[in-house]
Amino acid sequence: MPLKKVGELSVPSTLDHLADVDQFTEGLFRNLALPREILDDVAISISEAVNNAMVHGNKLDPARKVLIRFYVCSRYLRLVVRDQGTGFQPETVPDPRQEQNLLKTSGRGLLIMRHLMDRVTFQPRRGGMQIVMDKYCPQDCYGGTERNCA
Ligand SMILES: Nc1ncnc2c1ncn2[C@@H]1O[C@H](COP(=O)(O)OP(=O)(O)OP(=O)(O)O)[C@@H](O)[C@H]1O
Ligand SMILES: [Mg+2]
Repeated sequence: MPLKKVGELSVPSTLDHLADVDQFTEGLFRNLALPREILDDVAISISEAVNNAMVHGNKLDPARKVLIRFYVCSRYLRLVVRDQGTGFQPETVPDPRQEQNLLKTSGRGLLIMRHLMDRVTFQPRRGGMQIVMDKYCPQDCYGGTERNCA
């Protein structure tokens, strides 16, 4: 069996809904036999990605939704966050580690996600931008059930 979808949530683009996203992910985490530090990496990355989707993608327009989908297989977790914005080119985003950016207090979300997750890709989609993030599991992610990864 390929990746299995284990959860999906759609929220309006206002920052108060970040708490709903956190509650949703913590609920999913309860079914995963994974160390807390792995789950914390995923939770932080979800929060950064959803924040970007709401603020930069959807311009905090409550009528525009952020869709979060969560997949799992035996070897990794996959998180997909999609917005309804016009997209962006990740390679043109300034590197916060460059000297002229070190004192800036924003511009670090993508770096954090890339650091905490094992694979991060950006996929322009019709009607929005999608970020896909994978986190490898040190042991079977899904409690010993046979689930091959695609
Ligand atoms: N979903 C998105 N849609 C459009 N632009 C985006 C999206 N995600 C990121 N960006 C662009 O990439 C830039 C870098 O994002 P990043 O999360 O690293 O920093 P930031 O959101 O500006 O600040 P913070 O450190 O608070 O996250 C953003 O300023 C924005 O221009
Ligand atoms: Mg950000």
